[in-house]
Amino acid sequence: DDAQLAELEQVALTVAGEAGRFVVDERPDHLGVARTKSSATDVVTVMDQGAQDLIRARLQGLRPSDAFLGEEEGGSAGDSGLTWVVDPIDGTVNYLYRIPSYAVSVAAVVGDPRVPGQWAPVAGAVVNPVTGEVFHARVGGGAWVSGADGRERRLAMAPPPDLDQALVGTGFGYAVQRRRWQAAMLLEVLPQVRDIRRIGSAALDICAVAAGNLDAYYERGLNPWDMAAAWLVLTEAGGTFTGLAGGPPEGAMVVAAAEPLHGQLEVVLGAAADAAGQE
Ligand code: IPD
Repeated sequence: DDAQLAELEQVALTVAGEAGRFVVDERPDHLGVARTKSSATDVVTVMDQGAQDLIRARLQGLRPSDAFLGEEEGGSAGDSGLTWVVDPIDGTVNYLYRIPSYAVSVAAVVGDPRVPGQWAPVAGAVVNPVTGEVFHARVGGGAWVSGADGRERRLAMAPPPDLDQALVGTGFGYAVQRRRWQAAMLLEVLPQVRDIRRIGSAALDICAVAAGNLDAYYERGLNPWDMAAAWLVLTEAGGTFTGLAGGPPEGAMVVAAAEPLHGQLEVVLGAAADAAGQE
């Protein structure tokens, strides 16, 4: 019921806020690279793991029977039917370069977050610890944003522009082969839109669509932790969040915008994906 959802939303806000303060306050002047993922450009910092460990410990204290899935190592099972899906620092490269566009993303989801179409977020928060901007939502409770002054405002998306007037965000991931594919996609998409932004944090970019700072967002290669909380912020603000051809959001593609722009972009992305060929 709504009281339970409100509690989950509050937990998400609390732990994301605490982790946000941790990553800002404890950021070393010279960040060590803990290890690399798919290529040398995917820099995963000691802070990333530290922030996740902190969030996980807090959640274990507050919600001991929920499962946990994070970007970094250390998932765990639960028996409540809820899983916390967490990106301790979304926008790691921005974090590394001190570009103030990275976020802590914390969401409670139902279903299996590893299987596209089999899960959905029910409450979540996306915190930009540099600007103090906080996005949060629960199912049926609307999407909200508060700034550094703590004032809250409810997000309600305005009717979007047509595709040729749309400012469209995207991201590229880190693997070289994927980037070739992303570049081939851009070749098709870029001439058909107002412009493209690659801001560097999928969670904040999707929230930016909800807040009207971007008209749309698409990306191939997102993981559940990049999208879980922002997905709910977007849909509670009135937007549509899917994969291609009306399918569920998945690694292959997510498309975020209000209708009818969402549908227009989906069609263009489908055609672009055909033109771009196999990844
Ligand atoms: C990344 C960011 C980036 C997106 C990548 C993500 P990370 O998350 O959201 O904008 O393009 O696909 O992996 O690695 O910084 O948590």
